[in-house]
Amino acid sequence: MTDIEITGGPAAAVHDEPVRFPAGFVWGAASASYQIEGAISEDGRGPSIWDTFAHTPGAIFGGDTGDVACDHYHRYREDVGLLADLGATHYRFSLAWPRLQPGGRGPLNTAGLGFYDRLIDELLERNVQPWVTLYHWDLPQELEDAGGWPARDTAHRFAEYAELVYVRLGDRIADWTTLNEPWCSAYLGYAGGVHAPGRRDPADAVRAAHHLMLGHGLAVQAMRAHDASKRVGVTVNLYPVDPVGDSEADQDAARRIDALMNRQFLDPVLRGAYPDDLLRDLATVSNFAHIQDGDEAVIAQPLDFLGVNYYTRHVVRASGGPRQAHDSVSPWVASNDVEFVSRGVPATDMGWEIDPQGLHDVLTRVHREYRPIPLYVTENGAAFTDEIGPDGVIADQRRVDYLDSHFRVAARAILDGVDLRGYFVWSLTDNFEWAWGYSRRFGLVHIDYGTQQRTPKQSAHWFAQVTRRNCL
Ligand code: NOJ
Repeated sequence: MTDIEITGGPAAAVHDEPVRFPAGFVWGAASASYQIEGAISEDGRGPSIWDTFAHTPGAIFGGDTGDVACDHYHRYREDVGLLADLGATHYRFSLAWPRLQPGGRGPLNTAGLGFYDRLIDELLERNVQPWVTLYHWDLPQELEDAGGWPARDTAHRFAEYAELVYVRLGDRIADWTTLNEPWCSAYLGYAGGVHAPGRRDPADAVRAAHHLMLGHGLAVQAMRAHDASKRVGVTVNLYPVDPVGDSEADQDAARRIDALMNRQFLDPVLRGAYPDDLLRDLATVSNFAHIQDGDEAVIAQPLDFLGVNYYTRHVVRASGGPRQAHDSVSPWVASNDVEFVSRGVPATDMGWEIDPQGLHDVLTRVHREYRPIPLYVTENGAAFTDEIGPDGVIADQRRVDYLDSHFRVAARAILDGVDLRGYFVWSLTDNFEWAWGYSRRFGLVHIDYGTQQRTPKQSAHWFAQVTRRNCL
């Protein structure tokens, strides 16, 4: 039980018009194991690729690591209390594979399971439903040493892990997500070198992407074979991709980025095949010998939902001139003759342009172009520099405005026929923002990393009103 109460009035609403969400709409906050847990050596946890990467000099801004993070491993009760105070119906969190299978194979680690048992029980006690992600980027280091995601065996190891955990924890968890943002795991980790494991080989990234998707399909098969009563899905990060101008070259650049970042994942999952244009575009990088007969059918398992993470829109142009790197995808996408264009509209501290309409665009696109499937926004939120006022209040009006504008667009998408069932804010608390360490704050709740004190921001007070009224 937390001793921090969310009190005080809501921050000012941005618009007056009331906007209602359907009865039973899921409202939650999200997190991920490496970003919050800390306790990296406790209870038999093995090292993950993020432990290794974060301890590599120069890899993370400010030399930060997830060694302690938000100390959620020891403070989970307080954090569950915060969720309850937010009126969250659900909590999206990830299981640390290296806690549960320290070397990435073999029997589950009982002490690691104990932590998730306690967390899940606490959530249920506070009437917050657990929404689990099986893989949010913390691959056991031993599996990386054996080849990582570019190796096919990793897909089988993932399915084995997923099934074991599902059998053990399935009784109390209705909603299961296999992967979070496979684009990031594959391309930022194996081509861009900016995420763990920090490799820079585009051919490896292409293999990694396929083996992540194969692992997803194998895991769904294994889980369903055991018990088909739970809801299973996958979370992808989607972006509208627009050409900056009408030229054929710019339009083709947009097509290529859309294929690479969106359709590479949507198509095999929801249509049963990789897009032809993607395979043509990547022919100089890969001969695709790693895709075996039947793989695409495995990936296309029927799902109960698709999770969509949305942050921004991409505007691109064909780059004929000197190669220009883009922060998150460099150097490889840039070397593909594409340049990401900044439109000069307001952006968050990540440099991501604020574009609520883009959320409508991605949701309606999935609705129109793919087979019907319930959708959830599994992440949306904003990093802003927060200041604690002399009265202790963190008046993060920009975060309130960001969320308000995106929630309104989500409501409009529902009116436009999109089967959107829920929305998770990224993130419950400030946390380890990957390559940016602790320098970027996404939380509804502020963390003082010196004392581990949690302070709900004004956005938390505002969000609690939204969840309770199911209305803006
Ligand atoms: C995507 C990831 O799933 C999450 O881990 C990350 O912190 C946020 N988006 C913000 O970058």
